[in-house]
Amino acid sequence: MQASEIRQKYLDFFVSKGHTVLPSSPLVPENDPTTLFTGSGMQPLVPYLLGKSHPSGNRLVDSQKCFRSMDIEEVGDNRHTTFFEMLGNWSLGDYFKQEQLSFVYEFLTKEVGLPKERLWVTCFAGEEALNLPKDTESFEIWKKLGMPEDHICYYGSNKNWWSRAGVPENMPAGEPGGPDSEIFYEFTDIVHNPEFGEACHPNCDCGRFLEIGNSVFMQYIKNTDGTFGLLPKQNVDFGGGLERIAMVAQNNNDIFLVNHGAVIKHLEKVCGKRYAESAEITKAFRIVADHSKAAVFLIGDGVKPGPVERGYVVRRLIRRAVRFCDQLRVPPGELGALVEAIVAQYKDAYPLLEEHKGNIRLELVQEEERFRKTLERGIKELERFAGDGAITGEDAFQLFTTYGFPLELIIEEAGMRGIKQVDIEGFKELLKKHSELSRAGSEQKFKGGLADTSEKTTRLHTAHHLLLKALQIVLGPEVHQRGSNITQERLRIDFSYGQKMTPEQKAEVERIVNEKIKEDIAVVQTLMPKEEAEKLGAEHEFGAKYPDRVSVYSVGPLDQAFSIEFCGGPHVEHTGQIGEAGVFKIQKEEAVAQGVRRIKAVIE
Ligand code: ALA
Repeated sequence: MQASEIRQKYLDFFVSKGHTVLPSSPLVPENDPTTLFTGSGMQPLVPYLLGKSHPSGNRLVDSQKCFRSMDIEEVGDNRHTTFFEMLGNWSLGDYFKQEQLSFVYEFLTKEVGLPKERLWVTCFAGEEALNLPKDTESFEIWKKLGMPEDHICYYGSNKNWWSRAGVPENMPAGEPGGPDSEIFYEFTDIVHNPEFGEACHPNCDCGRFLEIGNSVFMQYIKNTDGTFGLLPKQNVDFGGGLERIAMVAQNNNDIFLVNHGAVIKHLEKVCGKRYAESAEITKAFRIVADHSKAAVFLIGDGVKPGPVERGYVVRRLIRRAVRFCDQLRVPPGELGALVEAIVAQYKDAYPLLEEHKGNIRLELVQEEERFRKTLERGIKELERFAGDGAITGEDAFQLFTTYGFPLELIIEEAGMRGIKQVDIEGFKELLKKHSELSRAGSEQKFKGGLADTSEKTTRLHTAHHLLLKALQIVLGPEVHQRGSNITQERLRIDFSYGQKMTPEQKAEVERIVNEKIKEDIAVVQTLMPKEEAEKLGAEHEFGAKYPDRVSVYSVGPLDQAFSIEFCGGPHVEHTGQIGEAGVFKIQKEEAVAQGVRRIKAVIE
């Protein structure tokens, strides 16, 4: 069974159990300053898990595209990918453990047809010190469902607790989390490798067991004093790895063979090598297959390769893919040709990919060209360094940061010019310092836990709506939002507009926003059918798909609103609350891409 069939079966199965299907949210999260990319299915649902009512009801299901940039370096083994789809189902205060575990078991064994004897499950062992009880209820439910007792294992919070921040101790105040019950598949023909520990068990990393799904009982919220309180509703948050379920459905332990077949076939044809030729070649195939797919989806969601933040991640993906294509001796320019195979696989589930195909291909091809030019310049620089007879750690680091040369390439190129001395240790030392600095920088930037529900962030969020409308009034109705990021300190909006704003235009935008704040207008949430919201001219997020029933926020009553946007909130109740914190000010206006400007603004 292929992933596409499993996706459809999953959605249909949960619809038959009373769930409403949500479309996948974009990979670039809206109004969530805590993260660059959507990395799990629950991320877009956080406000609802915290207690807000969802416009589509309290039984939801979807297949969410996800991207995890921290996995870039891990790609190359048989199970890690940066891009994947997470099957998700949620109960927002509706059913709980009994129904959830029965649903998942029925889906996996009846719909997908997994052999029962290959399945293992885990439950939360409890954390006495934190007053978090052992989950014996899930244990009993699994037993009644027919799971043999020796296939049910207890683990502590490092394995069987889920929150976006990890273990209970790491959760910031206001963060939801809870115990979970994971499901594993056993590849019985894989012999345990004692390097990973004496005995094999579901959470062993030797490859015999593969986690395929996780039911999180999202029932707690971390209090400011570090204790745990119950959320207003007892929720279920299930996440299942679609590609992994496809693997086990085929009893094949290579995620790439199961889910990236078309790309691998194409690469084999153009480079004349076979995927399974050697461990090194297999790894290169996997990296190209993963990175090209992730780049296609990210560009499809509006991220262009560039020097900073999200753009930099896409740039790294493409450039790493180019390097590994070179290693395979894939002819230059072939990366763009992979788009066809990737889009063909996904166009039914993600029709926008087909629509943006030409543009995606162009971005990939252009980035490859830019990279090749950089490489040429880098080679010249390397030759200059090599003039002294050795490549120092600083030389190598400069080649790495300025020209994107990985260490292996530097050693290889230096070797071709008779130079054996490359200060590898010096390079590694500098790289370590650099990564520590940039990690600290990005943690700083994206810290804040649930900054999007704090009072300060909420004020800025409503100011963001006022700002977009003011920009349309001053610059023209063709201005639309292209990106957004709101922290407690400031708001940031990216919008479509081709020129630098004049000081007069900026002053006028500030004046309008502050005027609307003074008018103390009510901010109203309305749940309505999507068509109705579209008729009202509510602002959409670029490229997003919405469910049939949507939430819109209007500044003022709907029939005479100053602004109307598709939005899940949260917002202040009336605009005067923004004014309590100060005056709205534009701090910076700059270009971020061709035809896209960025404003940073504050209330002070
Ligand atoms: N939110 C849970 C996860 O990502 C289901 O594993």
